[in-house]
Amino acid sequence: MSGTGNTLRVAQWLAARARARGLAADVRDVETARVAPLPRPEPGDLLGVLMPTHAFTAPWPVLRFVLRAPFGHGAAAFVLATRAGTKFGRVNLPGLEGTGLYLVALLLALKGWRVRGVLGLDMPSNWTACHPAFGPAAVADIIGRAQPKAEGFFGALLAGRLRFGAGSCIALALGVLLAPVSLGYLVMGRFYLARLFFATERCTGCGLCARSCPFGVLQMRGQPPRPYWTWACESCMRCMNYCPERAVEAGHSWAIALFYLAHLPLAAWLLHALAQVAVLAGPATNPWVVFWTRYGLQLLALAVAYAGFWWLVRVPFFNRLFAWTTLTRWYRRYREPGTTLEDFRK
Ligand SMILES: Cc1cc2nc3c(=O)[nH]c(=O)nc-3n(C[C@H](O)[C@H](O)[C@H](O)COP(=O)(O)O)c2cc1C
Ligand code: SF4
Ligand code: SF4
Repeated sequence: MSGTGNTLRVAQWLAARARARGLAADVRDVETARVAPLPRPEPGDLLGVLMPTHAFTAPWPVLRFVLRAPFGHGAAAFVLATRAGTKFGRVNLPGLEGTGLYLVALLLALKGWRVRGVLGLDMPSNWTACHPAFGPAAVADIIGRAQPKAEGFFGALLAGRLRFGAGSCIALALGVLLAPVSLGYLVMGRFYLARLFFATERCTGCGLCARSCPFGVLQMRGQPPRPYWTWACESCMRCMNYCPERAVEAGHSWAIALFYLAHLPLAAWLLHALAQVAVLAGPATNPWVVFWTRYGLQLLALAVAYAGFWWLVRVPFFNRLFAWTTLTRWYRRYREPGTTLEDFRK
């Protein structure tokens, strides 16, 4: 899985290295496994699961891919997570893959794969909904450091050695501590993030973002057509970073309004109303009923609020209002420097 090309680039490095040794190598997007499932592994096969880190763990499409993957029957596998490498002045700081590597490794092992190694690899951070991208020099430096590390790891695996570094164990320990954040992201946070995107007046309605979404969850709606981010968006950042008009923003002022809309009025009012109904008084005070009711209501509130927001930003005044009150307006965009949309299609 790759949103902005980092992980695809790493997969290509490894495939090139395998081919240089006379081995056949195939790079596939996790989504293609939906239509063309992986074949049952042959002796000598090596499966690599490569992914970006999202919220200190593996993104949901990768977990889904592993759950759908065939049983390993003892064939070899490895897991590699790219993560948010950063560079401030001369200082390079690592990202944190948390539980991502070992969660995927555990699922693979449970499915009969013999996991030979895991690696967390720093590539430039692509989370441009949250922070500006790094400049070209820092990006080149981070990628330049990543390539030998990835190739060294892969070379060791091909030579039959195991690769479970101390770094990945520390990341796992921190990831366990941060597990509530990861879980919160998987069950709720990602739905919020997907509801922040909107297209500014720069949008020409070309539809490139919708055609390029790796999960097919971005739709062009209305007349003139404008992108609509559905609930299944994985916040991979491709649409935001590859839009030729730089028209995609994540609304920060809108985030505050959305938080209020999703949390307070609707859920509080409905729970209160439920508690008033005598027959529901028991279930309405049961913590599980309260939790699931709130969860369902928040998702509903998010969907309704976003539909309203989407119509609102079709009005030039409101579009400008939200465009001027988000920091992403000033954020530099990021995409792996050598990766084009055509590379993802291949
Ligand atoms: C929604 C989101 C969440 C992220 N969470 C993390 C994280 O928890 N830890 C980390 O090190 N990097 C995190 N990142 C950074 C990416 O994992 C990293 O930049 C990755 O290399 C992107 O790869 P890609 O271009 O193949 O999608 C996050 C990025 C996004 C978009
Ligand atoms: S947001 Fe960008 S890529 Fe998407 S339709 Fe508008 S101009 Fe095209
Ligand atoms: S809508 Fe954009 S951010 Fe969401 S999954 Fe598709 S390309 Fe990625």
